[in-house]
Formats: sequence, C-alpha cells, structure tokens
Amino acid sequence: MSLIDKALAAVTPQPDDETRKAATEKARAASKAGDWLSLVLDHHDAIRAAFASGRAAKTAVERNAACDALAVVLDGHALAEELVLYPALGQAGEKMHAAHTYLEQTTTKAQMAELENIAPSKPAWGP
Ligand SMILES: [Fe+2]
Repeated sequence: MSLIDKALAAVTPQPDDETRKAATEKARAASKAGDWLSLVLDHHDAIRAAFASGRAAKTAVERNAACDALAVVLDGHALAEELVLYPALGQAGEKMHAAHTYLEQTTTKAQMAELENIAPSKPAWGP
C-alpha cells in the first residue's frame, strides 16, 4: 500500500463490497434512465469495468491499453463531478461532504500518476 493509499484509507475509509452494492442499488432506485444520477452511476459502472480490465490484463500492451481506457472514464467522470456535483453538494449545505469528495478525486489523480510510473511488466501491476 502506497503512502497515498494509507493516507486515503485513514481519512476516507472505504465501504465493503456489500455496503457499496447496497448504496448503488439505492441510488439506482432513486434515479431515472438518462437523469444525472443514472449518468453518474453509469460512469461508476464504467470505472469499475475499466479497473477489472486492468486487473485482468496480462501483457504490457494490454495493461497500457487498460490504463489508458481507465484514464478516459476516470478523468471524464472526475471533471463532471468536480464541475457539477460537488459545487451542488456545497450549495445544498453539504460542504464537508463536498470537501471529502474533492479529496477523494485528488487522491485518485495522484494514484493514477503513480500507476503511470509502474512499468506494466512489473509484478506490482498484477492483481
Ligand atoms: Fe463518482
């Protein structure tokens, strides 16, 4: 676990898979096809799929391609959340939640930069 991962885990403990799944199902139930919430959830699905592709990639070429694909969905999603959702959270009186989510996005960007420094042929890339 990198220093950034340790810092993030201390500041923002991650929910277990069951808790995350329940929250996603609750959000899906509250969304309607094509609305902003459904788009956010679709992005999250695409991000999880991109991570899964990265974990499954075996060759350096596959890993580089997976990293590039992850960056596209992750960066696009981060920008959307930072420009629209987090300001809306702040305006709705959820400034601490907004600050917390900004921190998560910033940490994710740092982790992506770290990933780019790991050669795709190294064991650290593997699952
Ligand atoms: Fe998100």
